[in-house]
Amino acid sequence: MSEEHGNLIKSPKQLVVMVFASFFVPLIIIAFLMVYVGSGKKTGADAEAAAEAANQLIKPVALLDFKDASGPKVFKTGEEIYKQACASCHASGAAGAPKFGDAGGWSARLGRGYDGLMSSLVKGKGAMPARGGTSPSDISDYELGRAVVYLAASAGGKFAEPKAPEVKAEAKAEAK
Ligand code: HEC
Repeated sequence: MSEEHGNLIKSPKQLVVMVFASFFVPLIIIAFLMVYVGSGKKTGADAEAAAEAANQLIKPVALLDFKDASGPKVFKTGEEIYKQACASCHASGAAGAPKFGDAGGWSARLGRGYDGLMSSLVKGKGAMPARGGTSPSDISDYELGRAVVYLAASAGGKFAEPKAPEVKAEAKAEAK
């Protein structure tokens, strides 16, 4: 077999030229592309309209809520959970739900304590489906607990925030 086979670079000078070329040729191509794309730029209202149109096009993707299963879970606040899953009944008092901020409607229930209310919520009570109709894979017990605290606080309840579940050691290390 010949040593010459397929070897384009035969001298140090050629090597230097090749290194430079492989670095600058793509740069020049990119610069050309940038000028080419930039030349289509519009000004003022046109540009805004174009940006808005582009936003509309990517909206379905932009709105996707990608969950990184390997990353540490980000818990929602009680208020967020309430708005997402509880307000549909508890804002209006639909189906006899005790209303948000209605101290009268809540006073007797608050006596059940945080644990009592939590167990009503998790098991379901009267017209309220178990977990307020949410799924445990979507909303954790901890988040439901925060929603209970938030909802109770609106009506004078003073429950402590539930404790965040233990984060696995590796997830913690990753988050650092
Ligand atoms: C489909 C309507 C509906 C949804 C959604 C809903 N609730 Fe309720 N909730 C009710 C009704 C109705 C009651 C009253 C049940 C009863 O006492 O018969 C109630 C009662 C409660 C109580 C008092 C339980 C007790 O022991 O007196 C708590 C706490 C509560 N809801 C929290 C929540 C939270 C937090 C969410 C959101 C995660 C939620 N609910 C979602 C309808 C709903």
